[in-house]
Amino acid sequence: MTARLRISVKVLVWAACLSPILYLARGWLIDELTANPIDYLTDTLGESALVLLLASLAMTPIRIVVGVSWPIHFRRLLGLFAFFYVCLHFSMWILVDHFFNWGQMLEDIVKRPYITVGMTALTLLAPLAATSTKAMIRRLGGARWRLLHKLAYVVAGLAVLHFLWLAKAGVRDPYVYAGVLALLLGIRFWDWSRRRMARLRPALAGEPVTPPLGQERAGGRASAPPMLDRSKR
Ligand code: HEM
Repeated sequence: MTARLRISVKVLVWAACLSPILYLARGWLIDELTANPIDYLTDTLGESALVLLLASLAMTPIRIVVGVSWPIHFRRLLGLFAFFYVCLHFSMWILVDHFFNWGQMLEDIVKRPYITVGMTALTLLAPLAATSTKAMIRRLGGARWRLLHKLAYVVAGLAVLHFLWLAKAGVRDPYVYAGVLALLLGIRFWDWSRRRMARLRPALAGEPVTPPLGQERAGGRASAPPMLDRSKR
């Protein structure tokens, strides 16, 4: 990928990530946020968060299926924007639905399952955002960091469940998101079993087994995540 193309793609990704907030700000300025602006804001922020979360999870499956690795570099940006929109979405609930009434909020979390699930998703997403810096990756070590960031799939599952739980009967969107998540998980699982089989095949044939991908170096240390691994750029 040429430097020029990389910059163009970067600009496009940033524009796509910022478009929901710009669109909402424009709607607010020209007073075009529908007859129920609060619901509209909450829903649009929540849905933008979900789309970006799934987009960040789609980067590795794209590499697996298409064979190009540069989209991986946008995974962190997309994940951080997802967190940004979730925080705004959550702020709407704190400010507008409950206006800092902590007792009422706690009651809401306990009584309404979709709020419980949403809250759990946000709680799990926060450490992922906090550990997304290169310094944190180095501190945790590649293998531990990778393991922690597998939680992103759990967060996405909870977010889809949150949407399924709150959606009115006949609304199709949450099922579409559930389908996308299932597809992404399916591709990861297929890739994992394919690599596992490739590793086991020589052992079954009585040949020496190659170490798992990412642990080829001396001492079996896992390789750095792609964003730190300059050889993959
Ligand atoms: C990863 C975390 C979360 C994601 C991805 C997410 C996503 C969503 C989505 C997609 C919707 C439906 C939008 C629509 O109808 O078009 C929604 C609605 C909503 N979410 Fe979340 N959410 C998350 C966390 C939370 C949290 C932590 C709270 C509050 C504690 C919350 C409260 C709500 C509320 C009140 C609604 C609107 C329900 C309604 O329309 O009646 N969400 N969220």
